[in-house]
Amino acid sequence: MVQRQLPNPAELLELMKFKKPELNGKKRRLDAALTIDDLRTIAKRRTPKAAFDYTDGAAEGELSLSRARQAFRDVEFHPGILKPAPTVDTSVEVLGGPSALPFGIAPTGFTRLMQTEGEIAGAGAAAAAGIPFTLSTLGTTSIEGVKAANPHGRNWFQLYVMRDREISYELTRRAAAAGFDTLQFTVDTPVAGARLRDKRNGFSIPPQLTLGTIINAIPRPWWWYDFLTTPKLEFASLSTTGGTVGELLDAAMDPTISYDDLAVIRDIWPGKIVIKGVQNVEDSVRLRDAGVDGIVLSNHGGRQLDRAPIPFHLLPHVRKATGDDFTVMVDTGIMNGADIVASVALGADFTLIGRAYLYGLMAGGREGVDRTIEILRTEIERTMRLLGVSSLAELTPAHVTQLTRLVPVSGSLASAAAEAATR
Ligand SMILES: Cc1cc2nc3c(=O)[nH]c(=O)nc-3n(C[C@H](O)[C@H](O)[C@H](O)COP(=O)(O)O)c2cc1C
Repeated sequence: MVQRQLPNPAELLELMKFKKPELNGKKRRLDAALTIDDLRTIAKRRTPKAAFDYTDGAAEGELSLSRARQAFRDVEFHPGILKPAPTVDTSVEVLGGPSALPFGIAPTGFTRLMQTEGEIAGAGAAAAAGIPFTLSTLGTTSIEGVKAANPHGRNWFQLYVMRDREISYELTRRAAAAGFDTLQFTVDTPVAGARLRDKRNGFSIPPQLTLGTIINAIPRPWWWYDFLTTPKLEFASLSTTGGTVGELLDAAMDPTISYDDLAVIRDIWPGKIVIKGVQNVEDSVRLRDAGVDGIVLSNHGGRQLDRAPIPFHLLPHVRKATGDDFTVMVDTGIMNGADIVASVALGADFTLIGRAYLYGLMAGGREGVDRTIEILRTEIERTMRLLGVSSLAELTPAHVTQLTRLVPVSGSLASAAAEAATR
């Protein structure tokens, strides 16, 4: 028999400890976001469809992106037990400088379209967190503007080599003069990928108003208020004649860039050079031998060649072939700090986040980017603790299995995969 008593109001009162309501709507919204996916949901609600789709979308069937995200979800971690890690050190040295966390902000074009604070929010948040910020050639804030937002931290510049070479060289010189320490030379855009969402939305630069855009604007007044009351949205370093981003890329980019361009840029740029958009083992080795400082294994967040190799799958093979002393970074599909920990375990020196940063930006400007970094930091620290490691250097391939949902059965990675399976 359960023993019963008369209800005691004091006991009930003790249970009724309501939290003081948070009156700041933005803070309430951001605090409620526990994952990058949560930030994405808020971003979608608050951003006009064409701008959200430009950010969230990828090329053609968007398979490169969904496969890259799936590959991270298919990680199995192997924790060590009874290895106390009361504190964890998430800092790394990369390309001759420090970063408080093993990720930096990837270059993204047209960032002020997503939310008016754009690159200033990204660079400011990177400065506060002690991580590098990368400005795109197609950025909407000037090189000097980014430097002012992150005056003491690390700024990196992403270069597209354009048909008019002088424009690219001039930007490179300006970034060097402003003290940017690393150049990311992007090589995966000989032509633009087919971003079908942009086509379907009739999205163009500068944005054009259609009946659909106006109806879509009604529930998003704050975005429009920001858009109309802040400096005009335009590329900081390029002039445009209009069209979709794809059309613009095709007009501006030179599809004939080659190793010769690399040599010219090497002469102009005094800092570190990293090639972004590397997608196989052979190119990685050739670039190392050509003397670049590092590479980013990336398929441009799935925005270029659809069904491209999954960068995270390439990682262990590239690390093995290029040796321990070459800087290998990875991006595409990172949505969780655990994705970053798995990348470091499989040999990445560093990682970059594109959309994870932009979802935060769209969800809440500067504070939203701060929230992105905070969420990833928390996830990285927790994953490290649960794995029983107290520094990133302790992570090894033994901590991670890549489950084989998408195992190559023929083609260039197949023999490596077969070899791994029999180990
Ligand atoms: C909206 C958007 C714009 C981008 N613009 C550029 C760019 O101008 N230059 C570049 O090298 N990469 C660009 N990227 C690719 C990112 O630098 C990065 O490789 C990619 O976003 C990583 O994948 P993730 O978004 O899944 O993190 C862009 C990505 C997005 C989402």
